[in-house]
Amino acid sequence: MDPLDSLLDEAAARFAAADTPDALEQAKAAYLGKQGLITERMKMLGGMDPETRKAEGARINRVKTAVEDALNARREALREAQLAQQLAAEALDVTLPGRGHGLGGWHPVSRVRERICELFAGIGFVVADGPEIETDFYNFTALNTPDDHPARSMHDTFYIAGTDRLLRTHTSPIQVRYMEANPPPLRIIAPGRVYRVDSDATHSPMFHQVEGLWIDRDVSFADLKGVVTHFLQQFFEREDLQVRFRPSFFPFTEPSAEIDMAWGDRWLEIGGCGMVHPNVLRHVNIDPEAFRGFAFGFGIDRLAMLRYGVNDLRLFYENDLRFLRQFV
Ligand code: FA5
Ligand code: MG
Repeated sequence: MDPLDSLLDEAAARFAAADTPDALEQAKAAYLGKQGLITERMKMLGGMDPETRKAEGARINRVKTAVEDALNARREALREAQLAQQLAAEALDVTLPGRGHGLGGWHPVSRVRERICELFAGIGFVVADGPEIETDFYNFTALNTPDDHPARSMHDTFYIAGTDRLLRTHTSPIQVRYMEANPPPLRIIAPGRVYRVDSDATHSPMFHQVEGLWIDRDVSFADLKGVVTHFLQQFFEREDLQVRFRPSFFPFTEPSAEIDMAWGDRWLEIGGCGMVHPNVLRHVNIDPEAFRGFAFGFGIDRLAMLRYGVNDLRLFYENDLRFLRQFV
């Protein structure tokens, strides 16, 4: 049998077996290259008589074209396979959420803190600060609360074992630190974190207070009520607020009161206040005969609850974005 007859099948089989472009080009050389089988057959035409050459030439050309077609088909198949592989390797799941840069926002408690400081800055209060890890002295003693004073048990305190330090239970120590460093008259507002062994819907073990202090020659309890009421009206943007000053006790003020606000059909205590106790002033070398003033401490988280209508303060600390996003 003339080998030309089986050549097409043989070439097609070799092309199909070539699974890379390189292998395919090598297979091609065996048929169509300078010494390829088809090329060799073409060379033999020269020695034939014209009649045979014509017939044989046409036959070889048909086979050659068919081999070339098979080659091109295989080239195309290999290119498509390679593309498919590349696409699979670089596949993008367009249904995945993008990485993006989520826009941050202020936490509701931070917003309320800023708002409080702004409103007080508007009436001349300067923002002050103090450490969250306090000494027993600043948290209690300098605030007229000696070691054995029963008022210490008003606060369940986180002590730092083996030291005289504790996590401050209120922002009131900032009063003392500020008065030690600055002579009267003075007017400060001092926000910050405070800590107590406490936990329920209206008590968190870490919460926020904002301390206010106004010391001058002639500051009265009426000024205290006026400043606090004015602040609350501005803060809640309402004139008809239900606020009450409930007589109370703090070792560092005399007289003292708790400030309550209507909360549904109950009252919610938002802060304590009073006239600064003469002993506190003496501690920082301010003459209580010459200067006096008032102080207050609001629970910022409680103000945030009232402002935003949140009935459980622990929601502020669960970091559930679905909750927090509502305030941005
Ligand atoms: C004080 O801490 C006083 N230092 C306030 C003060 C300052 C009185 C200056 C006089 C002069 P009291 O323990 O009541 O007071 O706390 C003040 C406010 O903090 C409370 O009215 C309440 O709004 C808030 N608060 C107290 N404990 C918690 C808590 N565990 N979680 C959230 N808020 C609290
Ligand atoms: Mg209280």
